[in-house]
Amino acid sequence: MAFEPVLETIDLHKHFGKIHAVNGVTLSINSGEIYGLIGPNGSGKTTLIRLCLGLLRPTAGTVRIFGKAIPNKMILSDVGYMPQAGALYEELTVRENVAFFAEMCGSHEPAWIDEAIALVGLQDRARSLVRTLSGGMRQRTSLACSLAHRPRLLLLDEPTVGVDPQLRATFWSYFRRLAVSGVTLIVSSHVMDEAERCDRLGLMRQGRLLAEGTPGELRKQKNANTLEEAFLRFIEDDSERGTR
Ligand SMILES: Nc1ncnc2c1ncn2[C@@H]1O[C@H](COP(=O)(O)OP(=O)(O)OP(=O)(O)O)[C@@H](O)[C@H]1O
Ligand SMILES: [Mg+2]
Repeated sequence: MAFEPVLETIDLHKHFGKIHAVNGVTLSINSGEIYGLIGPNGSGKTTLIRLCLGLLRPTAGTVRIFGKAIPNKMILSDVGYMPQAGALYEELTVRENVAFFAEMCGSHEPAWIDEAIALVGLQDRARSLVRTLSGGMRQRTSLACSLAHRPRLLLLDEPTVGVDPQLRATFWSYFRRLAVSGVTLIVSSHVMDEAERCDRLGLMRQGRLLAEGTPGELRKQKNANTLEEAFLRFIEDDSERGTR
């Protein structure tokens, strides 16, 4: 189907004991979109991403990726994930890590591995053990790990934390190139200039999707000059509603 969303969630909930980490999220993301997930610490972004991937079982609700209900191992080769907390093997080299994750996702293309390493600018460190890398270099390795099997959907959980501004700009122009080629990206971030680069944003608060729209639409809704100002107003207005 031409207009089937790449990823959709329907009334998704996740409880951790008393914490309602995701509280009824329904969203639909289209092919070639860069969808930004924004929201305060603890608002449920990581939990939502993990639910989408089938890494967590929802308390209620449904996730579909490329029309298939999640969890589903068949979609593994189509999906790339960069977790917020590093998941690298310290005693393996950069290249071994990237090759391992690519292989786990069903890819055996050495050229793709080298390309992913080059993209993050780590050609010269490909043989370095991960434990000997700087924080930003680890982050870059994690991104390469999520890309090397050339997935059609990428879920990136704060991919640019600790990455220097120049490389951050490189990452974002690459994300845009991927999107133009039809790859769909979901990117969580706290950085407003990154949010500005997304096609559409979802603002989360307390497990709910508080607002959704293009950066321009969200600014306009709150009559704000900047996205930061708009977000603060969305959150302020929502907390006022909650205390009324
Ligand atoms: N495995 C878990 N067990 C218990 N509580 C959890 C677990 N994972 C997340 N939570 C809780 O769920 C809520 C949402 O957390 P989540 O990590 O999804 O937030 P986030 O929006 O990604 O925050 P941040 O911006 O800090 O990364 C928090 O209150 C957190 O403590
Ligand atoms: Mg998080």
